[in-house]
Amino acid sequence: MDELRGAARAAADLATGHLAGVPDGPVWQPVPEEDRAWLTGQALPTKGRTLSGLLHDVRERVLPHPMGNGHPRFFGWVNSPPSPAGVLVAPLAAAMNPSCAGGDHAGVLLERTAVRWLAELAGYPHPPGGGLLTGGASLATVIALAAARQRAIGEQGGDVREEGLYGRPPLVVYVSQEGHSCLRKAAELLGLGSRYVRTVPVGRDFRMDTEALRRAIAKDRVAGLRPFFVAASAGTVNTGAVDPLDEIAGIAREHGLWFHIDGAYGALGVLDEGAGPRYAGLARADSLALDPHKWLGVPVDCGCVLFRDPAAPRAAFSLVPSYLRDDSADGLGWFSEYGPEQTRPFRGLRVWSTIAHLGREGVTRLVRRTCGLARTLAAAVEADGDFELLAPVVTSVVAFRYRPAGTGADGTDRLNELIPAAVQRRGQVFLTGTRLSGTAALRACILNPATTEADLEILLDEIRNCAREMAV
Ligand SMILES: Cc1ncc(COP(=O)(O)O)c(C=O)c1O
Repeated sequence: MDELRGAARAAADLATGHLAGVPDGPVWQPVPEEDRAWLTGQALPTKGRTLSGLLHDVRERVLPHPMGNGHPRFFGWVNSPPSPAGVLVAPLAAAMNPSCAGGDHAGVLLERTAVRWLAELAGYPHPPGGGLLTGGASLATVIALAAARQRAIGEQGGDVREEGLYGRPPLVVYVSQEGHSCLRKAAELLGLGSRYVRTVPVGRDFRMDTEALRRAIAKDRVAGLRPFFVAASAGTVNTGAVDPLDEIAGIAREHGLWFHIDGAYGALGVLDEGAGPRYAGLARADSLALDPHKWLGVPVDCGCVLFRDPAAPRAAFSLVPSYLRDDSADGLGWFSEYGPEQTRPFRGLRVWSTIAHLGREGVTRLVRRTCGLARTLAAAVEADGDFELLAPVVTSVVAFRYRPAGTGADGTDRLNELIPAAVQRRGQVFLTGTRLSGTAALRACILNPATTEADLEILLDEIRNCAREMAV
């Protein structure tokens, strides 16, 4: 234990030193060959090493090569810096090392509070037992879709767990063109078939076209199919768009569809000033996926899925063999009855500490600050004739492109395809790209409260510099 005590103090210094040094280093840099070879090619050691020896390697070979998402000028994908409170308690969760499948201990009990707090922050109803933490929104989506599938087949008098889907009219899923790929993955995984995942077009604002949704449902009904699940987005990955949730809730009710919201990235955007009308209808969803490891900064991994009716996921997943039977479990049973994971990590401690440290006010400040920065970036893009804003900014994602005067459509497309990797290599900012309405786009996702207005200027400068270099 003495060895651990000494090394743990050194590890704490390493972690805090690493975090303190991040803003002064490059955002990201390629891993040099020597370290790459060490990271990937070590032989299995015959004899063990000391804990301080391991820390030496972590300091020299691991910490110098981060993904970049702790840096204030990391604008890629949807990856946040870790919350200090989450970093603080992560080793303590490991020290306790419970399985949060179930049982009577702090891990399970605190997860109940963490889930309820997330529901309260997002403005979603929370019946007791109405949610659980997951590895991310991808798994949250699988759980929501499985619950919906169970209900839909149950309404036909069947039981999908026993009979599978054989011989039944195909169940149809509706997802917006801008919906995340995890929705289709979930449908494929659950045997629904991507052929029966309808891609609903979006309008010019990248929100789901609800008239197109209505038409698609009607067409599928006429064809003898069974429309059963519609997924809206509260914050798309490409542009941060929030679908017309209330309208989609109405359509779902009218047609007996399960209404799911992917709020993995954007559910907390509801805390931004004036966001209320955009998020109207969120509380009507049958299920809501959201990722504490995104905007909230809970250290990876941590997703969450919330349900209006906790009986729905339990019907889809509860399977309690005699060796797991627990007569002392409260009426809610075990978390492992609500999803596919049996042994589950103590994610609740990281969520609890992060929210408890910030408070509702701190979370709100974080969301408002980052949304405000996104609006500032959008304004700078619009004010500069060489840039073009490609979508309205409604959360903290800015979709845009670089289009210097005199560059044709093909040239612009090619340039914007090349810019993200070129910008990343320079190490000053980290930006990723996408395609929007068929054209190459840049997207900056702002999740770090330490990002400044000056960082946004550096971002635009770096894009200009890169483009100039590429033209040489
Ligand atoms: C909008 C959206 N939905 C779903 C996901 C998938 O979440 P996860 O990576 O936590 O599984 C992401 C990830 O970036 C996302 O941005």
